[in-house]
Amino acid sequence: MADTARLQIGDQSVELPIVEGSEDEKALDISALRSETGHITLDQGYGNTGSWQSGITFIDGDKGILRYRGYGIEDLSEHSNFIETSYLLIWGELPTAAQLEEFSDLLTKHQMLREGLKHHFNLFPPNSPPMAVLSSVLNALSCYYPELLEIEDDEMFTEAAARIMAKVRTIAAYSYRQQLGHHIEYPHPNKKYAENFLHLMFSQPYNEFQPEPELVKALDLIFLLHADHEQNCSTSTVRMVGSSEANLFSSVAAGVCALWGPLHGGANIAVVDMLEKIREENLSVSSFVDQVKNKKAGIRLMGFGHRVYKNFDPRATIIKKSCEEVLAKLDIDDPLLDIAKELETVALEDEYFIQRKLYPNVDFYSGVILRALGIPKAMFTVIFAIGRMPGWIAQWYEESKATKISRPRQIYTGPVLRTYQPVEERP
Ligand code: CMC
Repeated sequence: MADTARLQIGDQSVELPIVEGSEDEKALDISALRSETGHITLDQGYGNTGSWQSGITFIDGDKGILRYRGYGIEDLSEHSNFIETSYLLIWGELPTAAQLEEFSDLLTKHQMLREGLKHHFNLFPPNSPPMAVLSSVLNALSCYYPELLEIEDDEMFTEAAARIMAKVRTIAAYSYRQQLGHHIEYPHPNKKYAENFLHLMFSQPYNEFQPEPELVKALDLIFLLHADHEQNCSTSTVRMVGSSEANLFSSVAAGVCALWGPLHGGANIAVVDMLEKIREENLSVSSFVDQVKNKKAGIRLMGFGHRVYKNFDPRATIIKKSCEEVLAKLDIDDPLLDIAKELETVALEDEYFIQRKLYPNVDFYSGVILRALGIPKAMFTVIFAIGRMPGWIAQWYEESKATKISRPRQIYTGPVLRTYQPVEERP
């Protein structure tokens, strides 16, 4: 196999080293391209650009493969849980029993918020978007832990990572309760991660929330399935911000902002909005699909399509099964699930979607399952953010070992040099 590629530009020729990953992925190393030829590459949306070499998550979009640190998502979904998987993502190996206990203890120790930090929640107006609150308060953590702004070793990183992992769930739940004008519930010292989140969201002083175990398991699975997804929009944002040596708190806060949009994490809300619209307006699934296909209305089939998966999204397969199980167990008959299934069937047989390789992604069913769990719609993307946190943390730390600030170039298309005209002389 050749280890270089030759690029010919006019009479200029340049050798580009070929870089190979551990799963035979191949890339052309163009780091000397500009200095040697004066050219840069242009790749809007970065669909052909490898921004980093990374040892964390592997995706093969054609085969529908997703692995965290070498472990298949199906394997982890069946045998692991969110906290163990978070440890795996952040530190690279599955923990021993002692390491897992130590990590869990650290999360319990750090799950409370400083009293001062709680006042921040009251400063947001009623009905503030929880993603805005989450991002702001995560960033505000930087003010409370100045000793963790510059991470010098693994020990400091562990302290910062554990604080974020523990507190993100508390912050998320507080943002919801503040919206309702309800009191803030303290985290429970003996409840595990997902159960504690539900407690923070729904317990009352006179009535502790006691969820069905299946419900807790389903939420834990949702966290796990979202835990990392290599160089997606929000993760790239976290790494980009981190590359300026910004601290971990601010970098993950930026990740939350990037996740917010409907083409990324916000899709789980957009999917339920879409299903509700179809139901409320009594639209037939085929007429809705026709609207999507004619493109005039600018409507997309939300929860469908993915930049990388061009066959199926393995997370969607797992989540669909879990969704059916949870709804059956809780004896919930959600008409939105029926609409979702019909939409999936119609779209998967339609030439428009087949040609463009558009399949259901993780968000197609996650909204329906979160509804069944009693999670309010406004919190769906926040749940995604809680799940994605270990991935962002792991990716930030990996990036922090690199030495280069991320700074893409551009092809300028604006006006060429002009001379300033005083206002009275302007036409
Ligand atoms: N509905 C209808 N048409 C679509 C859709 C869709 N959901 N997704 C892509 N297309 C069409 C698009 O119009 C284009 O058609 P044409 O070739 O005729 O111009 C073609 O498919 C390629 O689309 P693209 O926008 O170039 O594809 P992309 O790789 O840039 O976009 C995507 C990926 C996920 C942003 C897009 O598929 C989308 O908008 N999906 C809906 C939003 C969504 O579900 N997002 C969640 C992604 S998974 C969770 C996460 O990781 O964030």
